[in-house]
Amino acid sequence: MSFKEGFLWGGAVAANQCEGAYNVDGKGLSTADVATAGSYTKARRYTDGIIEGEYYPSHEAIDFYHRYKEDIKLFSEMGFKCFRTSINWTRIFPNGDEQDPNEEGLKFYDNLFDECLKYGIEPVVTISHYEMPYGLVTKYGSWRDRKLVDFYLNYCKVIFNRYKDKVKYWMTFNEINVVALHPFIPAGIKFKEGENKMQVCYQAAHHQLIASAKAVKLGHEINKDFKIGCMILYPQSYAKTCNPDDVQLSNEFMDNTYYFSDVHARGYYSNKAKKFLERNNVKLKMEEGDEEILREGKVDFIGFSYYMTLVQSSDKNDQDEIKGNMLGGVKNPYLEASEWGWQIDAKGFRISLNNLYDRYQIPLFCVENGLGAVDKVEEDGSINDDYRIEYLRQHIKEMKKAVEIDGVDLMGYTPWGCIDLISAGTGEMKKRYGFIYVDKDNEGKGTLNRSKKKSFYWYKKVIETNGEEL
Ligand code: BG6
Repeated sequence: MSFKEGFLWGGAVAANQCEGAYNVDGKGLSTADVATAGSYTKARRYTDGIIEGEYYPSHEAIDFYHRYKEDIKLFSEMGFKCFRTSINWTRIFPNGDEQDPNEEGLKFYDNLFDECLKYGIEPVVTISHYEMPYGLVTKYGSWRDRKLVDFYLNYCKVIFNRYKDKVKYWMTFNEINVVALHPFIPAGIKFKEGENKMQVCYQAAHHQLIASAKAVKLGHEINKDFKIGCMILYPQSYAKTCNPDDVQLSNEFMDNTYYFSDVHARGYYSNKAKKFLERNNVKLKMEEGDEEILREGKVDFIGFSYYMTLVQSSDKNDQDEIKGNMLGGVKNPYLEASEWGWQIDAKGFRISLNNLYDRYQIPLFCVENGLGAVDKVEEDGSINDDYRIEYLRQHIKEMKKAVEIDGVDLMGYTPWGCIDLISAGTGEMKKRYGFIYVDKDNEGKGTLNRSKKKSFYWYKKVIETNGEEL
C-alpha cells in the first residue's frame, strides 16, 4: 500500500465559490461578493460595494448553502474521507469588527460539519479563503491595518471553540502568497494614489503571518489535537535552459513563494527575504514580540495547491507567455495546456511534493489539484469527462511515486471543485472541475440540479482501493 491508512482522500471547495445565499441569515458583505463575472480574456472587476445591474456570481453560486445535505450525500457516495471547505467570515462577523458573533452563521456550520461527520467525513477548514468582511476594507483599509490581527483572532477564537469537537484540520489563509500578485483577492487591499505598493502588500502580509502564527498557538491551546496548516499556491518553476541565468531567474521566482512558506513553517524571515524587502524599499513595521510570535506559531503541516508548472527564461526573445493560476510564465514546449492555458504537468507534481518536503520536513497536504474544463452534457444526460479522469490519474500516479519511492509524508489529497462551482480567477461557471455537474451557466441560468459525471464513478474506485486502482 503506498498511501498510509487514514489517508485523507476527499475534495475541496471554498465557501464564497459555492455557498451563495450572500445576504441571508445575517451574513455581511464580503470581498468576494463585489467581484463581477469575467472570462478567459476579460478580468473580473472588484466594484466599490454592490452596483445595480451588475452580475455577481458569488451571490447565488451553486446554492450550496441550501443544498449541502444533497451534496455531502453525494460526496459520501464517492467515499470521501474528508471535505475541505472554508468558513465564510462574514457569516460569523458580518462587518468583521463586532465583538459578538452571528449565531445563525455559527449554526449553519454546526449543521454542515454535523452532516459531514454523520458520514464519517472529516471537515478540513480554511479560515479565510479569498473572502473577508468588506466592512474591514472600507473602515480600516483591510490587512494594512494591524487591528485586523485582533479581528481575525477573535474570529478564530469563536470558531475554534465552537467547532473544537467537530473540526480537527484547519488552514489559516488560502494561498497567502497571492497577496503580492492580486492584493485584493486574498487580502482586500486597494491602493491609494502614490503609495509604495510593495510596502503595503508586504506589511499586510506581515500582519497576516502574525495573525496566522497567533491562530496556530491559540488553536493548540483550545484543542491540542488540532492540526493547523498554512496554505500556499505552489507554482513550481523550471529554468528554460541550463543557462545559469535561467536557473537563477527560476530560483528567484520560487523565492517569492518560499518567502511565505518559510515564515509559516520555520517561524522566521530568512536572510534572503530580508534582503528582498530591503532591495524593494520595504520597511516592515515589526512590533516587539513579533519574532517570538512567529517562532511560537509554526504550522503543523503545509497545505498547498498544485495545478501546473511555469518556466522562466532570461532570453528577451524567448518570452512566449502563457497564462496560469494567478501568475504566468514562458511556454514549456514539452507540455500541453488546458483550455484556459494552464500547462498540464503531472510529473511536476512529484517534483513539487519533493521540493516542499525536502525543504520543510513536515507533513504535506495537497488541498487543490484538478482540471478546469468545459463539460458536455449528452442527450441521455451523461457527462463523459475522460480528460479530467486522465489529468487526475496521471497526477495521482506521480503523487504515489512521491510517497512510495521518495518517502514524502503526505496527509491527503483533495481535488479542487469536487462539485462544479464559480471560478475564482474568471468568475465563470463553465470552467468546471467537479465530479458532480451543476446545471448553471455563465449568465447564472440553470436549474442548479446536480448530476454525476463519469469521473464520479472513477474517483469512487480510486478512494475505495486507496489509490491502487487508477
Ligand atoms: C486556487 C484557489 O488558486 O485555484 C481557488 O484557491 C480557485 O479558489 C482554484 O478556484 C482554481 O482557479 P480558478 O481560477 O480556475 O477558479
